[in-house]
Amino acid sequence: MSSKITKAVIPVAGLGTRFLPATKTVPKELLPIVDKPLLLHIIEECAQAGIEDVILVTGRGKTAIEDFFDTSYELEDALAKSGKQELLEKVQALKSLVNIISIRQQEAKGLGHAIYTAQPILGNDAFAVLLGDEVMISDENTPSATGELCSLYQETKTSSVAVMEVPKADVQKYGIVACDSVGTNRWKIQNVIEKPHPEEAPSQLALPGRYVFSTKILSNLKNTKPGKNGEIQLTDAMCALAQSDGLLGMTVQARRYDAGDKFGFLQANIEMGLQHPEVQDQLKKYLKTLAKTL
Ligand code: UTP
Repeated sequence: MSSKITKAVIPVAGLGTRFLPATKTVPKELLPIVDKPLLLHIIEECAQAGIEDVILVTGRGKTAIEDFFDTSYELEDALAKSGKQELLEKVQALKSLVNIISIRQQEAKGLGHAIYTAQPILGNDAFAVLLGDEVMISDENTPSATGELCSLYQETKTSSVAVMEVPKADVQKYGIVACDSVGTNRWKIQNVIEKPHPEEAPSQLALPGRYVFSTKILSNLKNTKPGKNGEIQLTDAMCALAQSDGLLGMTVQARRYDAGDKFGFLQANIEMGLQHPEVQDQLKKYLKTLAKTL
């Protein structure tokens, strides 16, 4: 067994109800942040971390996701014939970022169930999990969130997950950890509570959707009964993992956007628009003018 992480699971089978009606026929993972679908930002994070195989757990109505990473003969032919070489290369590059493998989750029975769906493809090595609607952007020359977790796993051989501090009023939107500090930005997780009431939360450290797990999580998920909202909760299987094998938390350096949520999506578009060479000047000018009218 190697400790290098080469596989990642990205669950993308959720219904995206927070974004209806936009997500009735368009998977939320393909909504654009400036000019890239949000899933592409996540796949680029995988590639940057040295992941070679990405397992997409998809569902009904999500075939556009598989098509996005496949050859598009008509489009490529039209771009080639019209001499749009730069665009053609951009489109063709999507196919060589990572190997895309997809498997269907036949019913949206929760995040834990979605991850367990990938079990037949995973083998015996540890793997990363990235949520398909959480975008984490790191500065140039800074490792990605998944890159940081892969390094921590290689160093400690212990399952490791990203944590981030959230305001007390927001704890009920996340899985929240009970933990002890074990060094700068590192935590030993004792327990994980799914969306607690602010008065019952053991801390303000939330799980923003980046994980590296040993395959023990799969046997835990297999034995996990439906929990909160009748779904198979990843957090329940993580509690069992924390108690049997240990689980580390790491405060990662990347900026995180919950792009599956309307406000997070708008934030991501504005902040990344301000960094995009084609639109940054125009957008900055527009925002300054707009701000005067607010
Ligand atoms: P979310 O709960 O944020 O996604 O799950 P959702 O259910 O699509 O969104 P809303 O709340 O209805 O708007 C986090 C990630 O897990 C995937 C989702 O696609 C998302 O990327 N997921 C969730 C699955 O793949 N299967 C599930 O059964 C649930």
